[in-house]
Amino acid sequence: MSSKEMVKALNIFDVIKSRRSVRKFKDKDVSDEAVDKIIEAGVWAPSAGNLQSRDYIIVRDKEVIDELVDAAGQSFISDAPVIIVVCANMERSSQKYGDRGYNLYSIQDASAAIQNMLLTVHALNLSSCWIGAFNETQVSDILGIPSGVRPVAMLPIGHPDVEPNPPKRDSMEKFVHSEKW
Ligand SMILES: Cc1cc2nc3c(=O)[nH]c(=O)nc-3n(C[C@H](O)[C@H](O)[C@H](O)COP(=O)(O)O)c2cc1C
Repeated sequence: MSSKEMVKALNIFDVIKSRRSVRKFKDKDVSDEAVDKIIEAGVWAPSAGNLQSRDYIIVRDKEVIDELVDAAGQSFISDAPVIIVVCANMERSSQKYGDRGYNLYSIQDASAAIQNMLLTVHALNLSSCWIGAFNETQVSDILGIPSGVRPVAMLPIGHPDVEPNPPKRDSMEKFVHSEKW
């Protein structure tokens, strides 16, 4: 099946609203082709100065996945056949943008990629969950992440075994300010 055929014919708003964080996966593999497509979606996210200050680590090794599960203390992750760890490359961004690149743009570059990736996972009929709660030092040690690079999120990717109800969103009035705060 071509990657084009795998993408659901949904409009962007349908994809955004129907994406869910899924925490239960079927015992079924995710193809390398799908993983490539998901990373391609990350690569095409905007980034400060187009420096693309983010890196991706694909983890399929079961023993390494178990170590990552331990670092996150979230056992459901172990059911995913693949985890993509998205990192902020602070060093790369700081070369052009100094402290702002180091502390802010690199995290934003990684986050923009993550959201593109989550939407693409969903469009491919797969599921994931943004995992942000983990012991960062442990994850960096497990994956050999160099200094100047920070793991921002783990994305366990699999075939969904549940269809979660959408968690409620607050009304827009709570967050939207007209003209001034
Ligand atoms: C920065 C960030 C960190 C998150 N960390 C975790 C996490 O460690 N574990 C988890 O199960 N979900 C995590 N989530 C997922 C949220 O719980 C989820 O997005 C939220 O409840 C809304 O549900 P939805 O994604 O289905 O719309 C995280 C989401 C974000 C954006």
